[in-house]
Amino acid sequence: MDWLYFLVGCAVLFLLLQICTLLRSDCDLALIWMKYIGKSPESLKGQVVWVTGASSGIGEALALKLASAGCRLVLSARREDRLQTLKQRCVELGYGTPNDYLVLPLDLLDYDSHKGLVETALKYFKKIDCLVNNAGRSQRAVISKTSFAVDQQMLAVNTLGSISLTKAVLPVFIRQNSGQVVVTSSLAGKIGSPGLASYCASKYALHGWFDCLRVESVMYNIHVTVACPGPVFSEALIHAFTEDPNKNLGLKMQPGEKRMTAARCAHLMALAMANNMDEVWLTANPELSYLYMNQYLPSIFHWLAKRFGQKRLKKILEGIGDLH
Ligand SMILES: NC(=O)c1ccc[n+]([C@@H]2O[C@H](COP(=O)([O-])OP(=O)(O)OC[C@H]3O[C@@H](n4cnc5c(N)ncnc54)[C@H](OP(=O)(O)O)[C@@H]3O)[C@@H](O)[C@H]2O)c1
Repeated sequence: MDWLYFLVGCAVLFLLLQICTLLRSDCDLALIWMKYIGKSPESLKGQVVWVTGASSGIGEALALKLASAGCRLVLSARREDRLQTLKQRCVELGYGTPNDYLVLPLDLLDYDSHKGLVETALKYFKKIDCLVNNAGRSQRAVISKTSFAVDQQMLAVNTLGSISLTKAVLPVFIRQNSGQVVVTSSLAGKIGSPGLASYCASKYALHGWFDCLRVESVMYNIHVTVACPGPVFSEALIHAFTEDPNKNLGLKMQPGEKRMTAARCAHLMALAMANNMDEVWLTANPELSYLYMNQYLPSIFHWLAKRFGQKRLKKILEGIGDLH
């Protein structure tokens, strides 16, 4: 009986410790553990990683992080000049030679081009170890005012673009009998956030598709990692959709805002990649607690969301709320 009390005591203590850790953390518990017992991002050394959306924000920071870890990179986005500058910066920082980088301009919406781009990357590096589907656009608009064209374009870029590119790379991974697919989802891919409906739809859909891929591709030794960052400093507000498909938000994030740096987000993503993690949440509190509550106490979370969502919506529409 004493043993039973001892075990229960230990379990309660462990739980309290985890809760305390979580309150001060900027990522989920499993990833916190990986910091101590998992592989470091440097274990990715030598891998060929294809990063989309590498011309700014999270993708650019991730490319720098992976380059510093010794990866060889395929850098993709539409703005080729930005990709060339990034390549030059990596080389100047001493992260490999110019031959370790392939600048491969890509438009996610040009689905027909994706197979050809895979062939180009494969011809250059002879293998692809990892595809990071990071490119995407965000949104600020309420549903009642949003043109259906925005919903269509959002899903076309964020969801179908990533699916199309992944399907083009998949035969390579199956042939190699190895590979990793990473996708940058969002906190908004887990929680319905007012003012971001089309964006949420595009990110929730990614979870469905990539969760299926994870199970279907286990037999080919292919891993799928879905990363869900909270608010991060980037150019996302400048290019975000509004209710009008012809008008971007055009807002610059301000230094004082409560957001993770792109470099920190990239470090945590690289850690998740090194440890083949299935899904990771990259955000501090209170957003981290929202994620846990939404996952484990959904009824309470939905009640609170309805009660406090209006205030949040007002902030978001004023451009000072969270963007995911
Ligand atoms: N910032 C946040 O708070 C946050 C939070 C959670 C998740 N995310 C996600 O993180 C990812 C990166 O966003 P970010 O925050 O780093 O924003 P960002 O600085 O605006 O970067 C977006 C990247 O996507 C590329 N892109 C956009 N449309 C494209 C297209 N049609 N074809 C190819 N590339 C395209 C852009 O490059 P080009 O314009 O040169 O093509 C750019 O490199 C996105 O998936 C976003 O949803 C962001």
